[in-house]
Amino acid sequence: MDIVLVGLPGSGKSVVGRRIAHRHRAQFVDLDETIERTAGRTIADIFAGDGESGFRDLERAAVASLGEANGEPSIRRVIATGGGAVIDPRNRWALYRGRLPIWLDGRPEVLAQRLRRSPTVRPLITGRDPIGTVRTLARDRERFYAAGRRLNSAAEVNTLVERIEELAEARRTGTETATGAVVLRAGTPIGQIVIGKGIAAAEVAGVLDRLATPRAIVISEPGAWAAVGEVLAEGLATGGRTVERILLPRGGDAKRLTGIEDAARQLARLRAERREPLIAVGGGALGDAAGFLAATWLRGVPLIHVPTTLVAQIDSSIGGKTGVDLPEGKNLVGAFHQPLAVVIDIATLATLPERHRRAALGEAVKMAALGDERLFELLESDGEAIATGAGGATGAAGATGATTAADGSGAIVELVERSAWAKVEVVSADEREHDPAGGRMSLNLGHSLGHAYEAAGRFRDLLHGEAVAYGMRAAVRIGRELGVTPADRAARIEGLLSALRLAVAPLPYSLHSVLAALATDKKHAAGSLRWVLPTADGIVIRDDVPNELVERVAAGLLAPVGNAA
Ligand SMILES: NC(=O)c1ccc[n+]([C@@H]2O[C@H](COP(=O)([O-])OP(=O)(O)OC[C@H]3O[C@@H](n4cnc5c(N)ncnc54)[C@H](O)[C@@H]3O)[C@@H](O)[C@H]2O)c1
Repeated sequence: MDIVLVGLPGSGKSVVGRRIAHRHRAQFVDLDETIERTAGRTIADIFAGDGESGFRDLERAAVASLGEANGEPSIRRVIATGGGAVIDPRNRWALYRGRLPIWLDGRPEVLAQRLRRSPTVRPLITGRDPIGTVRTLARDRERFYAAGRRLNSAAEVNTLVERIEELAEARRTGTETATGAVVLRAGTPIGQIVIGKGIAAAEVAGVLDRLATPRAIVISEPGAWAAVGEVLAEGLATGGRTVERILLPRGGDAKRLTGIEDAARQLARLRAERREPLIAVGGGALGDAAGFLAATWLRGVPLIHVPTTLVAQIDSSIGGKTGVDLPEGKNLVGAFHQPLAVVIDIATLATLPERHRRAALGEAVKMAALGDERLFELLESDGEAIATGAGGATGAAGATGATTAADGSGAIVELVERSAWAKVEVVSADEREHDPAGGRMSLNLGHSLGHAYEAAGRFRDLLHGEAVAYGMRAAVRIGRELGVTPADRAARIEGLLSALRLAVAPLPYSLHSVLAALATDKKHAAGSLRWVLPTADGIVIRDDVPNELVERVAAGLLAPVGNAA
């Protein structure tokens, strides 16, 4: 077994790590020492010469040099990481998978005090306000450290060593999967967010235990239930917990009021109580519908999301928008209802068809275009592998998930984390879409015409993400003509969509049907459509886009009139 010690500078990782390694005759690896030895320079010199990014490159190489986790039951290796090694999602993926990560947590005041006495130069903690600096680092990194087991670093070294030995023993005799890992755990104003692989059952069980509820009420739909739900339910049933299952209609049909009535009557028969959470297991449609059920059953009960499609993991399960459709329009009946927890397990994607993975990248391109340079690069380098599940992930059976090239490298987990976290930040700052300068409304980039194309195809032809990709191209072209989207930015966004084979074929709809759908949306938006348009590094909101321009751009993505339906 490998133990990984993480925590802020000054939390005692080296001291504690050396002590455990000594007691178990295990190897001790100090990642910072590995970097210094390889580079032949001190970390302070590397920072001075190559900057923080140069140091992070060396750090990534040092993490990679650790190789596979040691699978022996006894403690064979103890790895102390530099405080910032875990910022990079791929480092965390490589470090935490199959290992036992331990977070040595401490109060910034105490850590800053220790650092003042330390002879080692810490390039990020120099200057006049070390406590303030440590506090900022703590806030920015907590979600990465909290993926590990938390121990208070103020305890005596021996006490910490004993606690870690107990945790190692529990791990050895426990049921955790060797390849599974939590990579991020964050308490946020819009619910707890946990991301990892092979984690769903343990994490949901943990929430239920904290609430002291005796049974698990799972809301799902046949597709997600067959792919993921059944195995998850088995995991939840261990330890004698009762699991109740309520199935809504399949896929998009879950979002009907009749299904909600049926489900509510089943809850009534189960005598579900106000403190009992509903556990939504499925894609975006199931999550929207189950979220609405949780918002309205007994005037609101706790909700746990287990999103099982890529769209749901990077987008719909986060933000608290719930709702169902009417024949007159989508999402016309709904409520804001924030989940207690969102448990994002990328293992559930193993069975997702390629078309659905690819479509979800339409939403990911949108998140990148909002201003995340690294997400752009990731989609450019690994997008195709993620879409295809390179190595045959699609169709692989079981909720434990096959390891594919894209998830083996950490590309999928990085995509999910970056996209999901970007949404957490946008929504936390503007939960109810009140910010006129952008805020949550910025997430509508590509959605105005995207939604109109989706409606023109009667919500059957295009998947949501596919429609958003068309809408993104339209937004880029409108932005170009209005002079808000620079040519190179437009070329980059459209080039990425083309490389991902999104919004490539002209759509077989009449311009009339697309504009009619746009007019309906405009009516529901109290008469004015606010266009989210890409700029050089983000977006701008405009409500003065001429109708003639919208019509011309909308028509440009349609097949020639002769083919129109
Ligand atoms: N609330 C929000 O903020 C928000 C944001 C974006 C999209 N949405 C909504 O999300 C919906 C689209 O979500 P979606 O793309 O996840 O569609 P979906 O929920 O309809 O699921 C797509 C299909 O995948 C199947 N499926 C689910 N999990 C699977 C798995 N692990 N393996 C194999 N198959 C699986 C389902 O049975 C279904 O047939 C739309 O209704 C859209 O309006 C909501």
